[in-house]
Amino acid sequence: MTEATFDVMIVGSCMTDLVSQAPRLPKAGETIHGHKFFIGFGGKGANQCIQAARLGAKAAMVCKVGKDFFGDNYIQNFKDNGVHTEFVKQTSDAATGAASIIVNDAGENAIVIVAGANMLLDSQDLQDARPALIRANVLVCQLEISPQSSLQALRMARENNVKTIFNPAPAIPDLDPNFYKFSDVFCCNESEAELLTGSSVASIEDACRVGQDLLRRGCGSVIVTLGPQGCVVLKAQESTSHHIPTSVVKVVDTTGAGDCFIGALAFYMAHYPSMPLEEMARRANQVAAVSVQAVGTQTSYPFKKDLQDELF
Ligand code: RIB
Repeated sequence: MTEATFDVMIVGSCMTDLVSQAPRLPKAGETIHGHKFFIGFGGKGANQCIQAARLGAKAAMVCKVGKDFFGDNYIQNFKDNGVHTEFVKQTSDAATGAASIIVNDAGENAIVIVAGANMLLDSQDLQDARPALIRANVLVCQLEISPQSSLQALRMARENNVKTIFNPAPAIPDLDPNFYKFSDVFCCNESEAELLTGSSVASIEDACRVGQDLLRRGCGSVIVTLGPQGCVVLKAQESTSHHIPTSVVKVVDTTGAGDCFIGALAFYMAHYPSMPLEEMARRANQVAAVSVQAVGTQTSYPFKKDLQDELF
């Protein structure tokens, strides 16, 4: 058992991304020709972990993959990116998670995940990671593993003064109210915010309004990401909402941009704990803006050496 203290620990998912690029997303019942296919490393949890590590965070992943070729490959991918793998378990009871992704020529995507082994990450796995988890600076969770496991990890962190980021993705209706209470930062995109609040998000003002609604549910702060419009940041101790714009860039593929933002945010929270959240969000926007200019999820994520010094 490691005695190490991690900047960022992620309790979450790993997926093998099966990506088809096509002129547009097909309609129901339709077959269309795509122009490129590739296989990559994905899963929201792992994506966030890899981005935090590439910026310089000492990162550890708590997850479950299958005892199969894809699971073995994924563990090697973590090692290649300097991610600690002691808490990456393998199971023979399910296959490594997989995501079928279609990306259109505008860089938009549609994704179906089959979570597989991710859903078998259980209470015992979290107990095994507990000594490290309760000493980490920042914990990040999402919803591609069982919600009970995410909630247990968030509770463990909160009870031990570890800062928490919760990303309710993919969003589920009737989210357990404790998810809000255990989130220092509750970070979602506009469609997740819509599903959680029942209100549409078509503008920055809408995002501020739904952000206030989410904040009232007990989060320390809320970030609603808005793609090319950046994000809005709301804090429990302030009545004002802050819109944080992002740079205009040529978008190639937005897949995993939200995960890139969250991984970067986790890095900033761990490394610059007294930095205002708005500034962390501004910098995370810049990192995510780099990622949308290249194809794929983790393949598009920048390393510290690729970014301007002003981001560090
Ligand atoms: O957020 C992007 C990710 O969602 C992809 O990597 C895919 O694996 C799904 O989990």
